[in-house]
Amino acid sequence: MTILVTGAAGFIGSNFVLDWLNQSKEDVVSLDLLTYAGNLENLCSLNDNPHHHFVQGDIGDRNLVSSLLEKYQVRAIVNFAAESHVDRSILEPTDFIGTNILGTYNLLESARIYCNNLDQNLKQDFRFLHISSDEVYGSLSSSDPPSNERDSYKPNSPYSASKAAGDHLVRAWFQTYKLPVFTVNSANNYGPYQFPEKLIPLCILNALQGKPLPIYGDGQQIRDWLYVKDHCAAIREILKHGQIGETYNVGGWSEKTNLEVVESLCSILDALKLKSNSKSYANQITFVKDRLGHDKRYAIDASKLERELNWKPEETFETGLRKTVLWYLENEAWMHHVVSGEYQHWIQKQYS
Ligand code: NAD
Ligand code: TYD
Repeated sequence: MTILVTGAAGFIGSNFVLDWLNQSKEDVVSLDLLTYAGNLENLCSLNDNPHHHFVQGDIGDRNLVSSLLEKYQVRAIVNFAAESHVDRSILEPTDFIGTNILGTYNLLESARIYCNNLDQNLKQDFRFLHISSDEVYGSLSSSDPPSNERDSYKPNSPYSASKAAGDHLVRAWFQTYKLPVFTVNSANNYGPYQFPEKLIPLCILNALQGKPLPIYGDGQQIRDWLYVKDHCAAIREILKHGQIGETYNVGGWSEKTNLEVVESLCSILDALKLKSNSKSYANQITFVKDRLGHDKRYAIDASKLERELNWKPEETFETGLRKTVLWYLENEAWMHHVVSGEYQHWIQKQYS
């Protein structure tokens, strides 16, 4: 059997594919458009693996997706493909609407038609797992409980609105057509292979290069942080034992202000790679202009997943962050390849 993983050359997708092939007998077809965020180097350890097949293409290309589903007799689709960066969505939302809404719609339609034509046995096993975000629940106040699966959607950024729209389509394809779906809304992920436009890898890179560590506004915004491997484990569990049609929140039970995140990161770097002048990397922290419409707080109540599927995160923020910093220190070549060309252009535009 084979699963189709979309967005497989991105951050979470590549971690998922690498972990999957370590643990499962099922083959993987990786579909990725290779946008600026897609990086085949993330999957290069699979170059000689006969159980992995990479295809460059768009989730919105119905002919391509349908032919892959047929050719590989796909048993499940895991949809990571998305435009994922809030700041980019604020500057230019078009691709977010295209991939996160229309792309998801096209993928659902390809899956529906394929699934309808399957034999009864294969149909019973088919699953469509859609990856989404805690940002769809909108901003919480400091006294609100963490978001749970019954909370209403109140997205605020073009990114979160596009993810929310995709989630609604997934729900509708279950309610209307009985496509066997799951929706997974996760907290902020961090770990190996994350593109350094996001807070943690950006600050690791800038710290090592002696550049400012940019904190938007006062740095008091709160995010819940989830180590990417814990997220991948939760997805595997949901695919195996989840209840069809259900939504599952995945979080790290680890709320931190952005300033706390960057300060923790600096202490780990101070311990692992002291600067030649013996000063702390924390001296590089620089407060910069705030993000437009910056949501104050996201937090995830992941108790449903623990109660029903016995999943909880293995890493604390402290252990996960240390692993992450070590990975970036040990993979400087990966970082150097990633930060060429288009990346420089983005940094200039965003932080000038
Ligand atoms: P990413 O930006 O690192 O990777 C996205 C991947 O999708 C890239 O490889 C890109 O080339 C590919 N892609 C983009 N458009 C495509 C298209 N039209 N067709 C095929 N491939 C396409 O993102 P990520 O951080 O790995 O996020 C993966 C998923 O998880 C996204 O759906 C995102 O919304 C969701 N999510 C991310 C986080 C996080 O903290 N990173 C948190 C919650 C949810
Ligand atoms: P980010 O990693 O972009 O993820 P998201 O916007 O999906 O939560 O940002 C995490 C938090 O860090 C968010 O509150 C914005 C903030 N941030 C900064 O303060 N400085 C930065 O340079 C970046 C990229 C983010």
